[in-house]
Amino acid sequence: MTATASSALNRNELPPHLDENLLTPRFYTTEFDKASKTDLEIARQDFEAMFKEMEADYNLKHFDRKASLERLNELSKEDKAVYESYLVRSVVSEFSGFLLFKEISNRFKKSGRAELGQFFTFLARDEARHAGFLGRALKSEGINVDLPNLPKKRAATFFPLSWVLYSLYLSEKIGYWRYILINRHLKAHPEKVCAPLFDFFEPWCQDENRHGDCINMMMRCWPGMTKGFRGKILSRFFLWTVFLTHTLTVCERGEFYTLLGIDPVLFDEEVIIQTNNTSKNAFPWVYKFEDGKFLEMRIKILNAFRDWRESSRLSKPIALAKFISLILRQFALPMEKTNAVRYGQ
Ligand SMILES: [Fe+2]
Ligand SMILES: [Fe+2]
Repeated sequence: MTATASSALNRNELPPHLDENLLTPRFYTTEFDKASKTDLEIARQDFEAMFKEMEADYNLKHFDRKASLERLNELSKEDKAVYESYLVRSVVSEFSGFLLFKEISNRFKKSGRAELGQFFTFLARDEARHAGFLGRALKSEGINVDLPNLPKKRAATFFPLSWVLYSLYLSEKIGYWRYILINRHLKAHPEKVCAPLFDFFEPWCQDENRHGDCINMMMRCWPGMTKGFRGKILSRFFLWTVFLTHTLTVCERGEFYTLLGIDPVLFDEEVIIQTNNTSKNAFPWVYKFEDGKFLEMRIKILNAFRDWRESSRLSKPIALAKFISLILRQFALPMEKTNAVRYGQ
């Protein structure tokens, strides 16, 4: 190991196959003053129900269980690297969820909204637990991620409250579908379970599912967010962005899914179908999948993205134009109105 490599390793405590880019999550800040005016009375019953469920803390002891690491030792060096990079990406996103919920909780408490403050403490508690669990899994691989110092690496991105709620709802629900589909697959193919981490996926995804329901309750307190043109454009924009990002990341970093015996393209399709369907409970509009166009276009977009990446400098602008025109066409595909419960409309 060269002197530079070894000092880099000391600073970040990351082995060479885990590059610094993995550690660049986005941290968000929002209109906290506006959030403190959330009118809970609109959705009082929903709030009480969700509060009780979060307070019950069903997974209190679950993530403390000690699990044997023997299966992991059977992995080849390459497969281990794939598994580790999955862990690093996951720990960073769980931790950024924790930071946001913690901040929202603090702001609510400061502005005298004690019950909302406590509610978001429950959400932060779960994300901290998830991040802590992944952190321990990494530690057992000899990798230390310096979580508390991560936010210092990147300025927080500002999002209006409605954007934060739409994107949080989707990220919790897509997280739920990702974990539960992996869990179902591994139950059907136990020989593919290569790490103790997967023994924890079921209660884990139930946490994310509950978080999505909590955010849905918050959205109901702001009826204007899901009304009229605003509701339609926000639904369209966030579903499209989250699905497009999912397709590109899952299919471009497919090694992890292949390691588990999952076809990344089919996995991506199932996650998108299910998340779009679940969003009918919260969003006023969702994409219409019956004609198959949205899902079909995914493959074209993926091919165009690969063409653009692999094209020579000269043909790059044409390849990029093709990619952009495809994603814009996907954005504009037909949507359907949902029957999501909305108060005060
Ligand atoms: Fe989580
Ligand atoms: Fe979550």
